[in-house]
Amino acid sequence: SARIMRILLAFALIATAAAWEALPGCGESIVPDAGDPREGFSKIVGGWETLLHEFPYQVTLKSTIGSLFCGGSIISSRHVLTAAHCTSGRQAGSIVVGLGEHNRLNPGEEFIDAAVAEIRQHPDYRPLTIQNDVSLLVLADEITFSDGRRMVCPPSRVASGNADGYAGETLIVSGWGTQSEGGSIATTLRAVDVIGLTIQECRDSSYNPSSIYDGMNCAGIEAGGKDACQGDSGGPMVFKNGNAFEEVGIVSWGQGCAREGYPGVYADTIYYLDWITENMQ
Ligand code: ARG
Repeated sequence: SARIMRILLAFALIATAAAWEALPGCGESIVPDAGDPREGFSKIVGGWETLLHEFPYQVTLKSTIGSLFCGGSIISSRHVLTAAHCTSGRQAGSIVVGLGEHNRLNPGEEFIDAAVAEIRQHPDYRPLTIQNDVSLLVLADEITFSDGRRMVCPPSRVASGNADGYAGETLIVSGWGTQSEGGSIATTLRAVDVIGLTIQECRDSSYNPSSIYDGMNCAGIEAGGKDACQGDSGGPMVFKNGNAFEEVGIVSWGQGCAREGYPGVYADTIYYLDWITENMQ
């Protein structure tokens, strides 16, 4: 009957509706002091080697033969957030998403290779200026969350419409990217702590101010020495809000890596929040 059809339709809508929401447990790690800088390592650039499941939202993007080309983050049981320059020119079937990956040579129990059903890349991505460097991957199968695989929370400080609300905060970037300019991809996930800048502070850095477009945000250390680098692209930069990590930026670009005066540049998740939400439906 029509009534049953309506009920079934309502269920179907509920089942497929997705949004990047601060659901219970989002952004939480089973590592008690997750995100606290650890001494004794010099990794990512100027960071540390993570503990198992320290950042359960972190994923790898790999080719079908297993070579890592970017990072990304889980933002719902069906969606991965990454950079447009990571998906540009690629087909969904040529990307494998590694969930719960830690040591790439020694996959743990939580590790799963997931297939991509669809790429939803920002239509205004500009390769020359790296504007709108944001892309969504719709996974073929739903992720079952576990200690090693969990969504990151959306940003909470959204009032200014950009990441300025996180300026001066310690933010954490993670990835398997190189540990120096021209270095090689890491085996085990690494992370580094950097300080958020306002977009104005970024335009006042050594970058040409006109190269820092709205929708970009920056983070680094005045003296340099701490940064994301090649291979970290698409991965998350987060703020630890209580015990939950929320994503503030997507690794996008930089002048070299960790150079003095040149902070890392990110796609601003606050600026793109509406685009992300709309394209998750
Ligand atoms: N574009 C690089 C990639 O594809 C990441 C650059 C990040 N660079 C930086 N200095 N923060 O992996």
